[in-house]
Amino acid sequence: MSEQIQRKKRILSGIQPTGTFTLGNYVGAVRNWGALQEEYECLYMIANLHALTVRQEPAALRRQTREAAAMVLASGIDPQKSTVFIQSHVPAHAELSWVLSCNTQFGELSRMTQFKDKSAKHSDNVNAGLFTYPALMAADILVYNADLVPVGVDQKQHLELTRNIAQRFNNLYSPTFTLPEPYIAKTGAKIMSLQEPEKKMSKSDTNVNSFILMTDDPDTILRKCKRAVTDSEGTVRAGDDKPGVTNLMSIYSVLTGKDFAAIEAEFAGQGYGVFKEAVAGSIIDTFRPIQQEYTRILADKDYLDGILSEGAAKASHMANRMVNKVYKKVGMLQL
Ligand code: TRP
Repeated sequence: MSEQIQRKKRILSGIQPTGTFTLGNYVGAVRNWGALQEEYECLYMIANLHALTVRQEPAALRRQTREAAAMVLASGIDPQKSTVFIQSHVPAHAELSWVLSCNTQFGELSRMTQFKDKSAKHSDNVNAGLFTYPALMAADILVYNADLVPVGVDQKQHLELTRNIAQRFNNLYSPTFTLPEPYIAKTGAKIMSLQEPEKKMSKSDTNVNSFILMTDDPDTILRKCKRAVTDSEGTVRAGDDKPGVTNLMSIYSVLTGKDFAAIEAEFAGQGYGVFKEAVAGSIIDTFRPIQQEYTRILADKDYLDGILSEGAAKASHMANRMVNKVYKKVGMLQL
């Protein structure tokens, strides 16, 4: 019992290896990772099996899988403290996923808004994996008895389904899975598109000037900031009537620690040009050390692959135990 109380809560985070993080991901999630691992037992999984639900170029998927892992590590995740691994390296995810999909209803999966959106977007490839994807995600989470899962709005429905599947399984067999809770980061500031500041910044936006990637070089960051949509007032001031300028102020505030009043004072009487250069500078300064570390890790494949092998071994150890338990409960013959 006392061991239960003292055990750090476990967080599982899944990241698809299909593109780099944006400034929005950095502010909303990535920058807190370093601190999270002090308080929680963290598992960071690169969800490469999930990526197969849409067509991927095999060589690109392989490369992006390493890149995603390198970015997780470069962003302050310490492999001594947290477990970083690739989903396909732990076969237990796919095994548990099958059992869970036999305990998930067609109707439930049909109601997933992401399935509806994605099948509309990729109407030439509405494959069964796209449909059963939430059962795999449930397996990712439940196989580790994760207490908390950091999720954005787009994944909230999948987490709720995960809880429903877990509860149903627990009722039908016997208590097996922990019901995971969503982890909502304490940090505020939602970063908006630089081109349409009413919309959230997203890497899938067709306009590349609307987002900044964590891998963007200084010239690109400066150019994108200079092109950011503002207004014709010419005063650096936050307000509902100034979404573009307010968004830039939020970015600058988060990255420099200055509050809005201080920022307004700093740029009083100056145009947007000077302000935008300062915003770009704050982003460039923040990303520089991360990018250096990212490049270093990617160049050292032995180091990276060593961490991923260790991560897979640690994760498999936990996950295999759960699959054994589940197989026993559902009546799989074990010799
Ligand atoms: N489905 C998530 C996404 O597309 C990625 C993911 C896979 C995930 N498995 C997970 C997230 C488990 C949290 C927990 O963003």
